[in-house]
Amino acid sequence: MDNQRDNQSISPTETAIKARVDAILGRMSLEEKIGQLTQLGAMAFMPGPKPEDVIRKGGAGSVLWLTDRKQFNVLQKVAVEESPSGIPLLFALDVIHGYHTIFPVPLAMASSWDPSVAERAQTVAAREARAAGIHWSFGPMLDIARDARWGRIVEGAGEDPFLGAAMAVAQVRGFQGDVLGAPDRVLASAKHFAGYGASDGGRDYDPVYLSESQLRNTYFPPFEAAVKAGVGTIMSAYMDLNDVPAGANRFLLRDVLRGEWGFNGFVVSDAFAVGNLVIQGFARDGRDAALRALSAGLDMDMASNTYGQHLAGLVEDGSLDVAEIDAAVRPILSIKVRMGLFEQPYTDESMLEQVIALPAHRQEARLAAQRSMVLLRNEGGLLPLSKQLSNVAVIGPLADSMEATEGSWMIFDHKPAAVTVLAGIRARLSAAAVSYAPGPEIKRDIPSMFDDFVPPADRKPDQSPADAEAAYQTALDTARHADLVIMVLGESANMAGEFASRASLDLPGRQEELLKAVVALGKPVVLVLLNGRPLSINWAAENVPAILEAWEPGTEGGHAVADILFGDVNPGGKLPVSFPRKGAHSPIYYARNITHQPETSPMYRSRYWDGLPTPLYPFGFGLSYTTFSFTNLKVSAAQVKVGAAITVSIDVTNTGAIAGDEVAQLYIHQKSGSDSRPMRELKGFERLTLQPGETKTVTFKLGPAELRHWSTNAGKWLQDAAAFDLWVGADCLASLQTEFEVVS
Ligand code: GLC
Repeated sequence: MDNQRDNQSISPTETAIKARVDAILGRMSLEEKIGQLTQLGAMAFMPGPKPEDVIRKGGAGSVLWLTDRKQFNVLQKVAVEESPSGIPLLFALDVIHGYHTIFPVPLAMASSWDPSVAERAQTVAAREARAAGIHWSFGPMLDIARDARWGRIVEGAGEDPFLGAAMAVAQVRGFQGDVLGAPDRVLASAKHFAGYGASDGGRDYDPVYLSESQLRNTYFPPFEAAVKAGVGTIMSAYMDLNDVPAGANRFLLRDVLRGEWGFNGFVVSDAFAVGNLVIQGFARDGRDAALRALSAGLDMDMASNTYGQHLAGLVEDGSLDVAEIDAAVRPILSIKVRMGLFEQPYTDESMLEQVIALPAHRQEARLAAQRSMVLLRNEGGLLPLSKQLSNVAVIGPLADSMEATEGSWMIFDHKPAAVTVLAGIRARLSAAAVSYAPGPEIKRDIPSMFDDFVPPADRKPDQSPADAEAAYQTALDTARHADLVIMVLGESANMAGEFASRASLDLPGRQEELLKAVVALGKPVVLVLLNGRPLSINWAAENVPAILEAWEPGTEGGHAVADILFGDVNPGGKLPVSFPRKGAHSPIYYARNITHQPETSPMYRSRYWDGLPTPLYPFGFGLSYTTFSFTNLKVSAAQVKVGAAITVSIDVTNTGAIAGDEVAQLYIHQKSGSDSRPMRELKGFERLTLQPGETKTVTFKLGPAELRHWSTNAGKWLQDAAAFDLWVGADCLASLQTEFEVVS
């Protein structure tokens, strides 16, 4: 058994790892090799033999969805001490934005435009998850999303590949550390490879049709960045990509991922996805599914046991060669060696309590939430509010909701413990000064599949129309008796995330009706949004003087909202995704090609005749309590040769009276070339903190990596000799412009 302490010390060299893996492999039966390719779903409801019985036979290499922490060492002991080769298990779970201490959802962290926020968040998440016994997180989610109807937009970094790639690298580093194997880090999984965010109509799991140039110029960059950053695993997506399911897509898994990017980790399917190849009308039966998925480069079968049922037969009848099985097993064993699981397979069960008690974790969560929030409106400088306010009403169905504050993708059986917005405001003003009314409840029209996991005894009955009306009137009356009203509206936690697409982007339920009635009272109103996707808050954008996009801000969300509303923190977040005026306008994004009737032409009315097609709020937008100027935009040369680089510099000044953060954003447009190129593309950003009156000079480099594109016409990457416009400013509509030319 390999865990009998090989006397060799583990040399950090690849050679030593490879030799060790080959030695382990050489002692394994075919059944055990296939076991390593099988990830067992450990949900109580799942049919089939007990996990320990499968593990004892060497029938599983990994276990997912296990949340009973006492079970980790129990099952690991079976694997290490009772299975034929004693190969330790990898325990996996979706730790998307926190394990015990919950951070803002990834879309919120992307709104910080500060990769260190994401890195520090995932560092804390990894420390807590590993202390709980988790080795492997199914994160970061890297799907570019340009359709807010798609519920999983909440899990990613929004619409832009450049910002998405920066957030990808930061999260991989946060989860895994610099080199895989530290005892307080976890294996990461860049998911869902690839194109999932472009599902037809924003409908979760629906087919995706993307051209090769869309894939390579827009959807691949965050994944390539994650691979270059050393991500240990990739999770393939569920859906058909151009009629070939991503989990059996040789172009994705062999040609691009391994052939071009040199990925040397392993690929895991999404849940049950190998077996689902039959349902999707791609595979004839389970045997066909197993053969085509493995041949396409899918190494581990998550929870469907299709590999466990069919791979041995495929080898025996000669359809598969055992060398192909070995090739899939090697990266799995190599990662287990790198993670030190053979030396230290067990978890110290006393660790978690020590780790989650660290005050730094909640401080990090509060900082992340502060930096993730986006000030969308502040007419008349209503914000920041005075701390002397003595009669404030906090109103809305999410104001005191721990679930909505922590958001989607919680760990199964996680008990929400967030500081709600109401609690945060009461902690700042004193409870006597703050009245509260939830107003009518909000709920999905169609329940989420996640609701099925809620024990029937814990399910709340629907609010009756009479109770809803009474709640409406009570909320209005509460507002009537206050001097100022803070409305906390948006979506509940299960309205975004998986199985959470929607056709409308309006505020659910009677929230807008209540908002209008409160505003009609004529008092100052502040709107705080808790939501996992852009919302079409058209009326609020015109009629509510102050709007703070707080997203789903996590355990410390209420404190962070209060920090910003009362001026202890000056908001500096920027939108990582355009806000459509209607759901039907999706997909909408700033990096579009120019049409023959450009947006500046009077014929621009050629778009919808029933309303403006422009976003309600553009990509990169966000206000501050102070003001900034961008001046002195310069390029190091008016011309640059193909393959060389120029430097762009800009002065950013805080022209207001208080310190604040600004995000300098650099956009380019290639004016002609082998292909039409988007009217603007983000190619640089930097978040700065500036004292009143302070000026900082920011510099960006534009080289081949930023100026090349995948050419549809040429069918390859190329850099054109062409003229470019460039802009630097505070969002994608930046007006300060200059130009340069690339010459051959
Ligand atoms: C889900 C999701 C995926 C998740 C996996 C395991 O269906 O698509 O993101 O990691 O199953 O929970």
